[in-house]
Amino acid sequence: MLKTNYNEFENDLGEILREFGELSNYEFSVFGNFEGDKFIVSTEINDKKCEYNYDFIFSDELEKKRLLKRYLKISLYKSLTFYFERNLPWGSLTGIRPTKLAYQYIENNEDFESKFLNELLVSKDKTEIVKKIINAQKPYYEKNDDNCDFFVGIPFCPSRCAYCSFLSNEIAKEKNIKEYIDALIKEIEGSKKLVKNLRSVYIGGGTPVSLKTEDFLRVLDAIGKVDVEYTVEAGRPDVITEENLKIMKEYGVTRVCVNPQTFSDETLQKLGRRHTAKECKEKYALVKSFGFDVNMDLIAGLIGEDFDTFKNSLDTAISLNPENITVHTLALKRGSRLRESVDRLTENEVSKMVEYAHSALEKAGYSPYYLYRQKYMAGNLENTGYAKKGKECIYNIDIMEEIAQIIASGANAVSKQVENAKNKIERVGAPKDIKTYIDKIDQVLDKKFNLYNK
Ligand SMILES: C[S@@+](CC[C@H](N)C(=O)[O-])C[C@H]1O[C@@H](n2cnc3c(N)ncnc32)[C@H](O)[C@@H]1O
Ligand code: SF4
Repeated sequence: MLKTNYNEFENDLGEILREFGELSNYEFSVFGNFEGDKFIVSTEINDKKCEYNYDFIFSDELEKKRLLKRYLKISLYKSLTFYFERNLPWGSLTGIRPTKLAYQYIENNEDFESKFLNELLVSKDKTEIVKKIINAQKPYYEKNDDNCDFFVGIPFCPSRCAYCSFLSNEIAKEKNIKEYIDALIKEIEGSKKLVKNLRSVYIGGGTPVSLKTEDFLRVLDAIGKVDVEYTVEAGRPDVITEENLKIMKEYGVTRVCVNPQTFSDETLQKLGRRHTAKECKEKYALVKSFGFDVNMDLIAGLIGEDFDTFKNSLDTAISLNPENITVHTLALKRGSRLRESVDRLTENEVSKMVEYAHSALEKAGYSPYYLYRQKYMAGNLENTGYAKKGKECIYNIDIMEEIAQIIASGANAVSKQVENAKNKIERVGAPKDIKTYIDKIDQVLDKKFNLYNK
């Protein structure tokens, strides 16, 4: 139970509390008051009181709000670390995009490292990763409102994996595939008119290659041949075929995701992924024989896995030498069936996995180039994309840093209109439900045109 006199920040404070685990038996209060140009925050956790004070200098109302939120969060975080004798890797920092915040400090000529370490109480390791990412992004990071990335979503999969947090429908049970592809093609063709300076194309999911070849071909044909970075998140090795790879090659695809998640057959089976580690290696070799760059997704903290199982998966991925390896940390909502098993996995074990991944990947010549956090992540950690030099994925950078237009098509796809100079982002999302998306395709397109042609 949390009491505060700043109700508008209750959710933000709640996010910090959540990271400290199951706290329903505790009472928390966070109260802030101005005394001259000082902002004094008093906190209480089950009768244990603390007080923090901050010099409060702001230039406008927006900054005032930003600082109020920050100081309340820092105070709560400090009192929690004091009470529970535990620090979090990202300190008082919540939110999906730590690197975006670092860029904001840099643009204001502030020392982001010192802000992260001393004010937000982010650990040295995480601050260092953010610094490396900003460095890796240098050749690609470009704030230009004409830049855009073209996303196409295929929300179907061969089967649903037990941990998955994305929209996906089991393809065999879906009755409206043809109608979905018709609507999608209409949206793709309409959206192409919005493209100015195309930076990348990304077909994601779901599992795009779970479509029948003729349907997949129709989608590629609607997008057309391009000569920019072009990713297909093929994903599940069980549905990658020579036939769909041939078509991808013909249409100019440059990058394909072949995702093991883990190289343990036991875990794969438990998760409901219908492929083995061996099949993943075979499909990887097939994809490489076509000359594609490859990304491999792994997840740290999967059910039943310990450090050694994860280490084996990571070492196997490195030995295959793909251009990109993305290390996710399992994110599951509290109360979900799988989450309960994760809680039993010590958070230390998951941090050990993530730390090992970082050092092993760097030793093998990979550098971190993008990072994001999600709610409900094991150990309050992060997802990090690693790349061999020159093989960083532009789409991942643009979507995370929110510096280019994201023109997205498909059910649940979110288009973003970015105005860099004003630091403004507007989003328009399409319906999640397949039937609603199909029925409302004209409105979906209209809304998108309104977003970009205001
Ligand atoms: C949009 S999914 C599509 C991937 C593709 N369908 C596949 O299964 O290989 C992208 C990635 O998100 C990650 N992911 C999905 N659910 C997750 C969860 N609950 N926690 C952490 N990572 C997750 C997986 O690594 C997955 O490969
Ligand atoms: S195949 Fe990929 S998108 Fe589909 S349920 Fe599994 S992890 Fe999620």
